Amino acid sequence: MYGFLLVAICLFLTMHKPIGIFDSGVGGTSIWKEIRKKLPSEDTVYLADSINAPYGVKSEAEIIELSRKNTEVLLSNNCKLVVVACNTATTNAIDYLRNTFNVPFIGIEPAIKPAALRTKTKKIGVLATKGTLTSSLFHNTSKLYAEGITVMEQEGKGLVELVEAGKENLEETEILLRSYLEPMQNAQIDCLVLGCTHYPYLIPLVQKILSPNVHIIDSGKAVAHQTKVVLEKENLMDISNRKGKALFYTNGKIDVLHNLVKGSHVSVKYLDF
Ligand code: DGL
Repeated sequence: MYGFLLVAICLFLTMHKPIGIFDSGVGGTSIWKEIRKKLPSEDTVYLADSINAPYGVKSEAEIIELSRKNTEVLLSNNCKLVVVACNTATTNAIDYLRNTFNVPFIGIEPAIKPAALRTKTKKIGVLATKGTLTSSLFHNTSKLYAEGITVMEQEGKGLVELVEAGKENLEETEILLRSYLEPMQNAQIDCLVLGCTHYPYLIPLVQKILSPNVHIIDSGKAVAHQTKVVLEKENLMDISNRKGKALFYTNGKIDVLHNLVKGSHVSVKYLDF
């Protein structure tokens, strides 16, 4: 009887712990928005490691070290599960994180499989960071799901920095993006995979550049769905009806982050981490 009560109390206390989310900067807020929609009762703690952005040009060892540091900060904030809201960190560090820390991790990687299933021209484009495109996880996924399909890989050099600077709608961003997307359009891709969580903020420009029959795919909704599945499976889900609190920490500039997430129950703070 007491044992049962103790388990019930533990479950109750754990379910109110926050979900931790990290990214190299503000891009992972595109994932946070999907998680918020799917799991509105959950508290969340988000870390934007903007001072170290971009991760995509760093070595695997550096990305692992930064991912370790971010996870430790989230765990010190009592997080019950960690969402790695960064393709570059997932593709380089998720195995290390899962082997090192004792909480469930949800990762994100470019959505090659849905694109491969959907394409009719048998040509798909992937826009991602160098760190993602050169990772063995990306390479293996591509090999597994895209057999017989031409995958045009393009490094989105400079795009993360533009989003970090709040320049997602400016002409200089459009010019750079055009130089990456027009060769794919000319090669007749019919699916474009956004392989970086900063890129959903560029969708209005992407739609302006590409013809409407190119389908744009990102993994945000799938990550939110998977987060729910794991919370349920591990008995970690907050089943109350309250609205969860969302706390954002950045070690960069507050204003860009604040503009992307402002709303009720949201607070954005500077943290030196
Ligand atoms: N949002 C990160 C991603 O999904 C950006 C990586 C970077 O900082 O270069 O890959």
